[in-house]
Amino acid sequence: MARFTDKRVIITGAAGGIGQTLVDLFCREGARVIASDRQETALNQLIQIWHQKGYEVMPYAGDLAQKDYCESLVSSAVQQLGGLDILINNAGIIPRGTILETTDEMWFSAMNINLNAVFFLCRAAIPHIQQAGKGAIVNISSVWGTQPGPAHVAYCTSKGALACLTQNLGRDHAGDQIRVNAVCPNEVNTPMIRSGFERRGLDPDAAIEQLNQSVPIGRIAEPEDITDVIAFLASDDARYICGETIAVTGAKPVCG
Ligand SMILES: NC(=O)c1ccc[n+]([C@@H]2O[C@H](COP(=O)([O-])OP(=O)(O)OC[C@H]3O[C@@H](n4cnc5c(N)ncnc54)[C@H](O)[C@@H]3O)[C@@H](O)[C@H]2O)c1
Repeated sequence: MARFTDKRVIITGAAGGIGQTLVDLFCREGARVIASDRQETALNQLIQIWHQKGYEVMPYAGDLAQKDYCESLVSSAVQQLGGLDILINNAGIIPRGTILETTDEMWFSAMNINLNAVFFLCRAAIPHIQQAGKGAIVNISSVWGTQPGPAHVAYCTSKGALACLTQNLGRDHAGDQIRVNAVCPNEVNTPMIRSGFERRGLDPDAAIEQLNQSVPIGRIAEPEDITDVIAFLASDDARYICGETIAVTGAKPVCG
């Protein structure tokens, strides 16, 4: 059954591992989507594939570190779609290092993209979702935000603050029938994690095979394991869930 027929949706990070899968899922279920990413060429190539599948999806490329882009993403979506029902804040970056290894640039990038962009997008989007009468926002935090893992101080801090922002908005806007929730994955098999292995000179497939053994359910997550939970939270099936941070981990605790 199509859960998102004619829903007007913004998805950020749409050219990434989880983002591509999200666009596919929401469009398959009838949504009309504005796909945002800073990788303009990759986004335009994906748009062609999505249009061949008959999806109603339009690109809006830009850099979420820029407040102007965040605000224009919402206004442009509202103009093109005729309103807004759902916002999925999926884009993110993962600067790695202890505080002693974290430069100003790494710290401010993590805060700007993982946290401040979500603030700007939610602040711009909520009045439009209020106007729609009800809707949902789903933020992609991380279990590394709620229980920090080792040597990722900027990433964990930004994702922890994002979890807290989610709880705040969930409380403040439940009365508007806007449900704000976050998904907190552990490791997911996407370019984000694979590029980290490559940078360390490791073969990503072999490294993921080894990582799989650390997960009680037997493997790290594939994007679909996460996007199914995001879609559930955005759908009416989750109509009474507000301000929650949902861990999706295959029972793997944060360790190290
Ligand atoms: N992969 C994991 O193990 C994992 C675990 C927990 C949480 N997450 C979170 O899931 C979300 C999606 O991650 P993913 O694994 O698909 O990563 P990914 O790197 O495959 O995709 C992230 C996307 O965000 C886009 N992006 C980054 N910075 C941007 C900016 N300044 N402006 C616009 N777009 C920008 C990138 O271009 C990319 O397409 C992120 O928020 C990430 O922190 C991922």
